[in-house]
Amino acid sequence: MENSFSRRDFIKASALTTAGVLAAGSGLVAAPHGDPNFSLPEIPYDLKSLEPHIDALTMEIHYTKHHKGYVDNLNKLCAEMHIHDSNLENILAMVSRFPQAVRNNAGGHWNHSFFWTIMKPNGGGVPKGKMLEAINTSFSSFEKFKELFFD
Ligand SMILES: [Fe+2]
Repeated sequence: MENSFSRRDFIKASALTTAGVLAAGSGLVAAPHGDPNFSLPEIPYDLKSLEPHIDALTMEIHYTKHHKGYVDNLNKLCAEMHIHDSNLENILAMVSRFPQAVRNNAGGHWNHSFFWTIMKPNGGGVPKGKMLEAINTSFSSFEKFKELFFD
């Protein structure tokens, strides 16, 4: 998932969504661009491939129940509320303007989409770059950090 979102994109999305919300609230304008159709992302690995650390059933529940629920609810809310922006980051950038249900479901969709990408079979290992620097600064070494973490 790409997170690049320029100020111009934000202003444009804000203006379009605000116009859409205001227009929808007035009952004068129907969906000009159609309703968003958010969907579950494909998981780039087999659900059982993270065993024994995370079992396949847990992964399946997160995917087919939790994540699907957020996506379905978000699509329903967007249709009901005349939210026509199909870019999840745009919606999240303006999330304080929307009711709690939109916040929860847009956030749930984003969080779960992120969750799938930060794990992989045989992943892990020593962090790199700024993360490793921060760990070394705070704990003297990655080995010491692991020692303290698992203590
Ligand atoms: Fe979940």
